[in-house]
Amino acid sequence: MDRIRIVGGQRLTGTIPISGAKNAALPLMIASLLTEDTLILDNVPRLADVSLLQRILGNHGVDVMIAGKRPGEIANGGRTLHISAKHIVDTTAPYELVSKMRASFWVVAPLVARMGEATVSMPGGCAIGTRPVDLLIMALEKLGAAIEIEGGYVVARAPNGLRGGDIVFPKVTVGGTHTAMMAAALAHGTTVIENAAREPEIGDVADCLNKMGARISGAGSARIVIEGVPRLSGARHKVLPDRIETGTYAMAVAMTGGEVLLQNARPELLQAALDVLAKAGTAIVPTNEGIRVARNGAGLAPVEVATAPFPGFPTDLQAQLMALMTRAHGTSRITETIFENRFMHVQELVRLGAHIHLDGETATIEGVKHLTGAPVMATDLRASVSLVIAGLAAEGETVVNRVYHLDRGFERVEEKLAACGAAIERLSA
Ligand code: EPU
Repeated sequence: MDRIRIVGGQRLTGTIPISGAKNAALPLMIASLLTEDTLILDNVPRLADVSLLQRILGNHGVDVMIAGKRPGEIANGGRTLHISAKHIVDTTAPYELVSKMRASFWVVAPLVARMGEATVSMPGGCAIGTRPVDLLIMALEKLGAAIEIEGGYVVARAPNGLRGGDIVFPKVTVGGTHTAMMAAALAHGTTVIENAAREPEIGDVADCLNKMGARISGAGSARIVIEGVPRLSGARHKVLPDRIETGTYAMAVAMTGGEVLLQNARPELLQAALDVLAKAGTAIVPTNEGIRVARNGAGLAPVEVATAPFPGFPTDLQAQLMALMTRAHGTSRITETIFENRFMHVQELVRLGAHIHLDGETATIEGVKHLTGAPVMATDLRASVSLVIAGLAAEGETVVNRVYHLDRGFERVEEKLAACGAAIERLSA
């Protein structure tokens, strides 16, 4: 397995292009199952999770064509996928595939909506908590699917099609909202989703579904209304920029000092995180091209933050903020409210010399003057990238093992950081 080697202490200066959002690209690719026509997605990031989902969709009979280079295209920019689910040959998503990527469970919704049947493996355990799928199942049942659990698989049946219904989520769930929206798009009648997730990726998927002929209103608010239509058609859609990648690099700059333009980033997608960074002493300036992030001279101030569903501070930036706060002048507190066990980075940050005390869902971080490089690893992608951020400020050499996790969600992390002056390289196995 590849490793990433970092020698800390360099400031970051330059431009980092922000890729398309992983957590929009994945549900958008899954939405292709709703139509016989071709769905064209632009700005799809080059990530291991995208390739894996391509394989999973291929198993259902979906063809994915990746366009070659075009004149004037920037090297390594996002890719264009032409996705055709004209002939669905298999409505089963097997354990071997679903267990590798939880989001692939979401295929259950378009498959049962269009084909009347889906057999999808339950995803199983996960490095950041138990992550059940009960609310996704509840949503499908409200739309008239008959659900059985057999041999570790969810079998969803709706031979006469789904029908609209009222879905009230007792807890905000991104995956639940995506599946409810996709299923309801092809249901007979009207569906109302209450307490829907408001994450920008939900809005992006709704925009794409509407281009495909769906009738969805209210996406981005807590109440989404969907008038079902009998069929959806093809469309072309550009994946929105990745707010988690944006926040991650903003924190890297806050950590090392320097000044970087996060090209194509959109501040409204991560205002809560930008506000926290500003409080910590980072200059954040939205520009026509993206977001300019700088920290020069001043030290880092400690912060108190609790993660929350959008528009709150995202759980997917919790580990990165914790890495940053290891160098703050004073005591920070970070509370994780979304996932029960998303603290795998804590012990690894401690190995680099951080002072962190964990009490239930709250971490107390006493800022230290120095971190020192060490070999580290993590089995969750956001935890892994937090170790990269810490390594950028640690004295000496940090080697991040199991880079496979980083490649799932960050496109060319070492190239993007090295281009801004970081001493970082990939050590190939
Ligand atoms: N939950 C339930 N029952 C369910 C579904 C969810 O109890 O049926 C709980 C979860 O256990 C969790 C909370 O509800 O405590 C929120 O989970 P949610 O369903 O919102 O998460 P998800 O859809 O599984 C997506 C992202 C995650 C991100 C979360 C929260 C994708 C592919 N994944 O997961 O991203 O952390 O929303 O914002 O969009 C990542 O990219 O590293 C990542 C983990």
